[in-house]
Amino acid sequence: MHKNGLQVAIDGPASAGKSTVAKLVAKQFGYVYCDTGAMYRAITLKTIEAGISLDSDTKISKLAMTTKISFEPDENGQRVFVDGKEVTEDIRQEDVTNSVSAVAAIANVRQELSARQAEIAKDGGIVMDGRDIGTTVLPNAEVKIFLIASVAERAQRRYKENIQKGINTPLDELQLEIEARDYKDSHRKISPLTKAKDAVEIDTTSLSIKEVVSAIAKVINNQLNVN
Ligand code: DC
Repeated sequence: MHKNGLQVAIDGPASAGKSTVAKLVAKQFGYVYCDTGAMYRAITLKTIEAGISLDSDTKISKLAMTTKISFEPDENGQRVFVDGKEVTEDIRQEDVTNSVSAVAAIANVRQELSARQAEIAKDGGIVMDGRDIGTTVLPNAEVKIFLIASVAERAQRRYKENIQKGINTPLDELQLEIEARDYKDSHRKISPLTKAKDAVEIDTTSLSIKEVVSAIAKVINNQLNVN
């Protein structure tokens, strides 16, 4: 066990419900929540705003090294800041969502952000969600969860979220976007999305949020009893 508690890694494909359940799990155990996807999104937003082409690996890497990303907890999970400016909403825009896999495939960007993530999590007491947390960022995490759900279910969830935000992208388009992102995230050379050997896989397709949270809490409590 680390100084402040366990390291809980939650990985899985896009829209599998990671951030929703990770926030609730963190709250239940009094742990810090950290959304690593937000860090890749923050660099992507800055890349787009700077007019840098998505294939300029060197420029994007430089930008990642010099960009300050910070989080502030609030009742919805966390607020995200880039160089002191709040970007919590901006990093969820469709153009960022559809470009982030390209940025997340750049080796130097991954190296920089993974090192920052490991530093944030070093004392434990943290629930960190992403794609490579259990495999690369926190290979010694005491709890590793791999969340999956069918593509149709994930598209449906995104659709509902979008409608609440006033975005009306057709369901079949969302399904194609999710499939494209899954493919890129799982086939990139560095730290592709894969289940860690010691991760517990939970298929959330037909589970409620409450059921997923309680399944994860059970794994954490088992681990706390061991420590
Ligand atoms: O979880 P999300 O959809 O906000 O993540 C955005 C993108 O960032 C996702 O397409 C893959 C990438 N990502 C990653 O490569 N590694 C992580 N640890 C987290 C996210």
